[in-house]
Amino acid sequence: MLTKEEMKKLAAMHAIERIQANMIVGIGTGSTVYWFIEELARRVKEGLVCRCVPTSLATYKLATELGLSLMTLNEVSKIDLTVDGADEVDPALNLIKGGGGALLQEKMVAAASDKLIIIADSSKFVKALGVFPLPVEVIPYGWKQVQEHISFTNDIGAVLRLKDDQPYVTDHGHYILDCHFNQISDPVKLSISLHDIPGVVENGLFIKMANEAIIAAADGTVENIVAV
Ligand code: 5RP
Repeated sequence: MLTKEEMKKLAAMHAIERIQANMIVGIGTGSTVYWFIEELARRVKEGLVCRCVPTSLATYKLATELGLSLMTLNEVSKIDLTVDGADEVDPALNLIKGGGGALLQEKMVAAASDKLIIIADSSKFVKALGVFPLPVEVIPYGWKQVQEHISFTNDIGAVLRLKDDQPYVTDHGHYILDCHFNQISDPVKLSISLHDIPGVVENGLFIKMANEAIIAAADGTVENIVAV
């Protein structure tokens, strides 16, 4: 049986085969995509030509250290393919993302991509989204008002994410509320209602954005789920 880390690497090794010469590649954030970035850098050293758009400061630093050629989102007209992880993936390939705090930039990069491939171990594949707390990125000013609004309207806990006992601050200077829905029956409706709240910057629901999910299981099998 494979460990979780081996499953993540296996999914990443499948995704890497989609990279063709001269592509502009969006590179996601997190421990699963780490394996993808590492292998991409190895192939670049062997002669593969590609340019990458990172989705976070952490990915920017990793990719720079590994010698990948990077561009900002403003420097490209579009991205050919983005490979990213997820916290939850449902059968329609709707996602919860942002466990690593990079949801805003990840969503912008995904939206600019011709294709989004999600790589994950099988624990991320769920029947319905919502057990993983939904990250909602908010501006620091008046965040308690937003927290109360989300909690009251949905009758759920919306918990300010902390790091070292201080509010966790995203790459873009915002806070994150982790929202404990438990089950999200209508992701579209929820996403629209969250966007309606003044002070909300973005939420971690990625609806109809992923084209394909590559899910690796502990027995070494890999499932390719393609969006219809
Ligand atoms: C970061 C993300 C990540 O893709 C998500 O949290 C999955 O991370 P990991 O591969 O480490 O489990 O959305 O904002």
